[in-house]
Amino acid sequence: MNSIYFDHAATTPMHAAAIEAYVEVASAGPSNPSSLHAAGRAARERISVARDALAEALGCSPTELVFTGSGTESDNSALFGAARAQRLKGRSGIVTAAVEHHAVLNACRQLEAEGFELTILPVDEHGVVRLEDAESAINENTAVVSVMAGNNETGTLQPIAKIGELARRHGAVMHVDAVQAFGYLSIDFRELPIDLLSVSAHKINGPQGVGLLYVRRGTPWLPMLYGGSQERSRRAGTENVAGIAAFAAAAKLACLNRHNRWEHAESIRAEVLRQLSEQLGPERFVVNGHQDDRLPHVLNVSFPGISSESMLMNLDLAGVAASGGSACNSGSLKPSHVLEAMNLPSDRIVSAVRFSFGLGNTIDEAEKMVKIIATISARYA
Ligand SMILES: Cc1ncc(COP(=O)(O)O)c(C=O)c1O
Repeated sequence: MNSIYFDHAATTPMHAAAIEAYVEVASAGPSNPSSLHAAGRAARERISVARDALAEALGCSPTELVFTGSGTESDNSALFGAARAQRLKGRSGIVTAAVEHHAVLNACRQLEAEGFELTILPVDEHGVVRLEDAESAINENTAVVSVMAGNNETGTLQPIAKIGELARRHGAVMHVDAVQAFGYLSIDFRELPIDLLSVSAHKINGPQGVGLLYVRRGTPWLPMLYGGSQERSRRAGTENVAGIAAFAAAAKLACLNRHNRWEHAESIRAEVLRQLSEQLGPERFVVNGHQDDRLPHVLNVSFPGISSESMLMNLDLAGVAASGGSACNSGSLKPSHVLEAMNLPSDRIVSAVRFSFGLGNTIDEAEKMVKIIATISARYA
């Protein structure tokens, strides 16, 4: 096991309160929320309480929330569901951004293969979509616009409110992947022009295998899974009751402590940067992503001259868990499509490492890790 875990954008440790909620439900005996008997009713009640808590955290109605099996499922369900419903109204355009997670990008590519016209918006060197590009891409034919809140590789924020306004003006459905941003950014649907939004429990100290999709009332959208009438027939399949209860416990805490979570992650990030400047010197590393408009828990750094793989392997040997980009990219060690979309020089792309911070991390770990990085980079000097 790694002794320093700086990979919270890949997955987070479960919060004690989430574990407690999970264990309580899982150890209460068999209970299918669709059953009419007492155990079934109890399970239904747990889901209902969890949904109410999440609706309160998000500022929406509980009936607008659909539990899913992951952030990926929420993204797919949002995109396929809205695209199919909008096609019935004669719309066939899909607009997304080059830096989206593969859960969005590959779903959009599949929609393109099924006959939709796909526009992938470029980004600037900080990874931000330019509003003028969005403006010229979104039109009366656009079925769905999907732009993420905060990027999983760089933390860069997108102007989702402004893009949502553009989508609304043209009658397109606006989807936002908020998998990384939820629990850091305040998301209030009464204020934001967003129709669909994806969240994933395991990124906010909840369990893996649970996601959430917000569907604004009246949004043209069709379910992706058909079967039983679970989730008001919007997502068939027996619910993950323990996971949902644990998700709600984690979400409640994440929203309640949003400012402290931000400050904590930001303090570790700042310390890593301060130590890198001090121990390595500012000429030996470059930060990728927007300097200010960003999430606090992600730090993408290139160490020119040292490949991402070498740095990650050496860090791993020294007990530090970090990542080369998104988790699936680091498995296949492909250059990051996000950094490529930002048009960074290739030596920066092939030497990029993502550190991501969260629950349990300390300033002391930041200092320790940079000492390890200094030792590694001395070997490559
Ligand atoms: C921005 C973003 N969207 C979607 C996902 C997919 O979420 P899940 O792992 O729950 O399928 C991730 C996971 O890394 C993510 O970072």
